[in-house]
Amino acid sequence: MDDLKAKYLGEISAAADEAALEAIRLAAVGKKGEISLKMRELGKMTPEERQVAGPALNALKDEVNSAIAAKKAGLADAALNERLQTEWLDVTLPSRGRPAGSIHPISQVTQEVTAIFADMGFAVAEGPQIEDDWHNFDALNIPSHHPARGEMDTFYMHRAEGDNRPPHVLRTHTSPVQIRSMLEKGAPIRVICPGRVYRADYDQTHTPMFHQVEGLAIDKDISMANLKWVLEEFVKSFFEVDGVELRFRASHFPFTEPSAEVDIRCSWDNGQLKVGEGDDWLEILGSGMVHPKVLEAGGINPAEWQGFAFGMGIDRIAMLKYGIPDLRAFFDSDLRWLRHYGFAALDQPDLASGLSR
Ligand code: DAH
Repeated sequence: MDDLKAKYLGEISAAADEAALEAIRLAAVGKKGEISLKMRELGKMTPEERQVAGPALNALKDEVNSAIAAKKAGLADAALNERLQTEWLDVTLPSRGRPAGSIHPISQVTQEVTAIFADMGFAVAEGPQIEDDWHNFDALNIPSHHPARGEMDTFYMHRAEGDNRPPHVLRTHTSPVQIRSMLEKGAPIRVICPGRVYRADYDQTHTPMFHQVEGLAIDKDISMANLKWVLEEFVKSFFEVDGVELRFRASHFPFTEPSAEVDIRCSWDNGQLKVGEGDDWLEILGSGMVHPKVLEAGGINPAEWQGFAFGMGIDRIAMLKYGIPDLRAFFDSDLRWLRHYGFAALDQPDLASGLSR
């Protein structure tokens, strides 16, 4: 038995792979294995002999089995180690100097805006770009005969005859996400909703698809003063320069009362757009205190809650901040333009390290 033990343990420790191990297992403890055959001979022994040989054979069998299991685990470890060695990758190496792609100014500015409002406690909400007319208009206090529907140059989705689903439009503003957010989250609430919007309009400062960011803050004691502070704070952080001048103009929107439009001082000299100087004003947003009917449409009790909202043109503030004079170029996909105005893909805007390093 000592010979058998030495023989098999030696073979096991020298086995190079799982197949060799399996061959050894069959030869030793398989049905016709050497140790198994010896166990069968126990029947022919005298009871005294059997009392000694039986436990010894069982112990030998167990020892061989566990040596095989241990060797198997060892082989698997070695295989894994070898793989880890060959597939090793140094993720701390610096990235390539000139990345092939770049971040579009709209994406960059959306991230910058999000970082600033996140810092003021606003969450990000989204809604569909194909919107039903209740969310886009009625719920925002723009009933079907209202002139605002005509003014918006709305794209209506085609409806087949006999289709009696509610009419759908390409959303003309991000304001319907106010309604969706109120219905979903209730009050109090603080959200911004960035996204694409659509209107049939085309010139130096208008494209049929453009971007807005909606803001909504509802609580028990929110006033116009909070709105003004939040917007001024935003503009200061966003433009990263001192002395950006804002102009609040009394205005009218069906979904706010009172309402204000906000312009920013700029100059347009020789096709160069500069913020914070000159005698021109560029409108960047509409805002106001949320109309009680809009709160009601959002399932919020206007006797208990109030708040402000605003809708800002992302493309407009991108043009202003980065001195891009023509909005249409944003969507031409001209590689030279994208290389010139694009941002490094690995620089994520954040407030701590500066928005637009
Ligand atoms: N939805 C308006 C537009 O697209 C902008 C706007 C004005 C949004 C006032 C608001 C607001 O939330 O309070 O022209």
